[in-house]
Parts: sequence; structure tokens; C-alpha cells
Amino acid sequence: MSLKIELLNSKIHNRSNFDCGKESLNRYLVKTASQDLKRKVATVFVLVDCHNQVLAYYTLSAFTIEVLELELSVAKKLPRYPRLPATMLGRLAVDINYQGRNFGKLMLVNALLKAYENTKTIAPIAVVVDAIDDKASNFYKKYGFVAFKS
Ligand SMILES: CC(C)(COP(=O)(O)OP(=O)(O)OC[C@H]1O[C@@H](n2cnc3c(N)ncnc32)[C@H](O)[C@@H]1OP(=O)(O)O)[C@@H](O)C(=O)NCCC(=O)NCCS
Repeated sequence: MSLKIELLNSKIHNRSNFDCGKESLNRYLVKTASQDLKRKVATVFVLVDCHNQVLAYYTLSAFTIEVLELELSVAKKLPRYPRLPATMLGRLAVDINYQGRNFGKLMLVNALLKAYENTKTIAPIAVVVDAIDDKASNFYKKYGFVAFKS
């Protein structure tokens, strides 16, 4: 199977059948993602097959970390500013027909790579993820993410 990861292009990429099992994430891709891209609220990257069918996607945007929200053990290692710049991985989803094939991992690593490249120009100190539920939280924890206090 020939796959590529590209910036979402609503004229080319077919999103209408995308189903990750979470209605809000499906709806976002179909109804909101291209608007967010246009308004520069978030970038949306899609994993597509040779028919431009979307198999997975993630979003990146800018974020501010409130240092008081962090566990002391983490905060102690950071510069003493009340707020710090970060990259937000707001959404990550894989179509249910393709889950369990390492596409989630592939998309996470691709997002982290893009966030890392961004540190050379904007200098965010971390990547923050927004886990939709406990299951998603466990996925991120597997890759070393730690929870905020609240
Ligand atoms: C969570 C999600 C992105 C994972 O994608 P996936 O393609 O099914 O996962 P992968 O095949 O890449 O799994 C990679 C590894 O993570 C593990 N993993 C997958 N889901 C996991 C979970 N919920 N908790 C813990 N580990 C998990 C796999 O077992 C695998 O481990 P291994 O490398 O040791 O074998 C996908 O299930 C999904 O889209 N779910 C619905 C939307 C969602 O919850 N998004 C999360 C963020 S909002």
C-alpha cells in the first residue's frame, strides 16, 4: 500500500467516509478542519492512500502552558516563567478499519518531528496533547506524555 502524509487539501483528499469511532473527531475532519486551516487556527495533516482516501489525521497549533498546572517535579526543571510556549497536538485519529497497524504511532511520531523542527524557529518547549478520553490518554502515556494536575 502506497501511503503519504500531507497537509489537508479539501479539494483532493476524500474525508467523507472517515470513521475513527469518535463522532466529534469524524465531524471535525469533515466540517471544521479545512476552515481551521484557512483561518490558521490549526494545521491538519492527513495520512492518505493512493486514492487520496484519508486513513488518519492530526492537528497542530500553538499553545500556552500555565506552569502552575504542572506537577512540581516537572515544573522544577523549567524556566521560572508563569506561562511557557508549547505545540498542541489537539487531535489524532485513525480510521477504525486501519487501527492497530501502527498508523497512530506513525502519525504521532510525524507530529512530534514537525513540532521538533518548529523549535528551531518558534522555540516551543514541549508538545501538549488533548486526550479525548482515558483510552486515548493511555495511548499518549505509552509514549512518555505526563498528565497535567487538573
Ligand atoms: C488512539 C489511536 C490514535 C491509536 O491508533 P492505532 O493506529 O490504533 O494505534 P497503533 O497501531 O499505532 O498502536 C501503536 C502502539 O500503541 C498501542 N496502543 C494503541 N492504542 C492504545 C491505547 N488506547 N492505550 C495504550 N496503548 C495503545 C498499541 O498496542 C501499539 O503498541 P505496540 O507498539 O507496543 O504494539 C486510535 O485508536 C484512534 O484513532 N482512536 C479513536 C480516536 C482517539 O481516541 N484519538 C486519540 C486522541 S484525541
